[in-house]
Amino acid sequence: MTPTISPVLPELLDAVGETPIVRLRNLTLPGEAEVIIKLEGANPGGSLKDRPAAHIIRHAENSGALRPGGTIIESSSGNFGIALAMFGASRGYQVIAVVDPKLTTTNRALLEAFGAEIIVVDEQDDSGSYHKTRIALANQLHRQIPNSFRPDQCFNPLNSDAHSRTTAEELLSQAGPELTAIVCTVSTGGHLGGIARVIARRAPQVTVIGVDVDGSTVFGGRAHAYLTPGVGLSWTPVNLEDLSAVDEVYKVTDEDAYRACRTLTSAEGVLAGVSTGAALTVALATAMRGNARQRVALLASDRGERYLSTAFNDDWLHENGISTDRSISGLRTRAARLVPYSLRPDQECANYLPDLGEQLGSPSKTLVGEASA
Ligand SMILES: Cc1ncc(COP(=O)(O)O)c(C=O)c1O
Repeated sequence: MTPTISPVLPELLDAVGETPIVRLRNLTLPGEAEVIIKLEGANPGGSLKDRPAAHIIRHAENSGALRPGGTIIESSSGNFGIALAMFGASRGYQVIAVVDPKLTTTNRALLEAFGAEIIVVDEQDDSGSYHKTRIALANQLHRQIPNSFRPDQCFNPLNSDAHSRTTAEELLSQAGPELTAIVCTVSTGGHLGGIARVIARRAPQVTVIGVDVDGSTVFGGRAHAYLTPGVGLSWTPVNLEDLSAVDEVYKVTDEDAYRACRTLTSAEGVLAGVSTGAALTVALATAMRGNARQRVALLASDRGERYLSTAFNDDWLHENGISTDRSISGLRTRAARLVPYSLRPDQECANYLPDLGEQLGSPSKTLVGEASA
C-alpha cells in the first residue's frame, strides 16, 4: 500500500495549515458532547499565528509592499513575532520585534534564535498595558526605516482573512455535520473574527463562542492586570468587525486558564499553552450542557513548551497565586459554574475605538482596500 504522505514542499511557508484535529477522551462523560481540538502547534512556528504571518507576507510580496532585503517591523511579544522571525529567516528579511517588559525568556530566546532584532518598550499606555505604545513605536520605525513593511496584525484585515480562508474551512471539513459550537479566544480578533465570518455564511447553525480573560476589555468591562498570555486587548479589534457573527462571549479568570491548560496536558496528553486552557474551560462547559450527538471544537493555539517555566512550574504558580490542582473533577466543577458574559455581544459589549488606528499611525488603511480588492 502506498502511504499518503505529502511530497517535498517548496518552502517553509507551504508547511502552514492543515493541522490535525483530535477528540478528547477523558474530560467529558458519556451523554455529553464530544470536545475536539485542532492542534495549531503542528504549524512550523508552533502556533496559529503562522497562518496570518504567511498570508500577510505572501500578500505583501505580491503587492510590492515587501521587497527583497526588506525589514519587517511588528509589535508582538509572542507568537506572531516568532512566526514573522521564522519566515523572515527563511525568505531573507530582517525582522524587528517591538516587545514590552512582559516578554518571557523563552519568547526572547525564540526571537533571537531566528535572528530577530528586539526593541523593548517600557511605557505603559492609558489602559495599563503596552499595546498602544508598542504599535505607535512600530509605526514610527516603519516611517523612518526605508524598505520596511508593517504586517500590523491589530489593524490589518488580512489577519482574519487568513483564518477565514484556512482555519475555518479546515474546521468545517474536519469536524463534520455534528459540529455544534466553535470556541475561540481573542486578542487581535484574527481567528475569532475570521472563523465567525465563515460560519455565519456557511454553517449558521454552529454557535461561535468568543473567550476573553478577566481584566482585558475586548468586550468592555473593568480593566485590571491579568496573567494569561496571548489573550486580551483594551478594545474590540477591527478584525472582529461584525460582533453579530459571534453568538456568545465569556470572560474566564487566570485561574481557569492555567488550571485547564495543565489538566489538558496531564489528563489528555495535549501539551498546549495557557490560552488553550481559557478556551477549554468554555468548550467543556458547552459540552457538559450538550448531548452525545454534538461536537464542540476549540483550537490548541500554540505548543505548551513555551510555558514550561510558568504554567508547568509549581513554584511559579504558587508565587502568582494560581492553584496547582490538575484534577479533572476540579476543572469540571469550574466549567459547570461558568456563565456567559454576553449572549448578544453586538448589542451589549462592543468596545470599538474607530479612530485608534489613525491615532497610532497605522498604515493599514491601504491594506483594507487591497484586502477587499
Ligand atoms: C497562544 C495564543 N492564543 C490566542 C491568541 C489570540 O489570537 P488572535 O490574535 O487571533 O485573536 C494568540 C494571539 O497572539 C496567541 O498567541
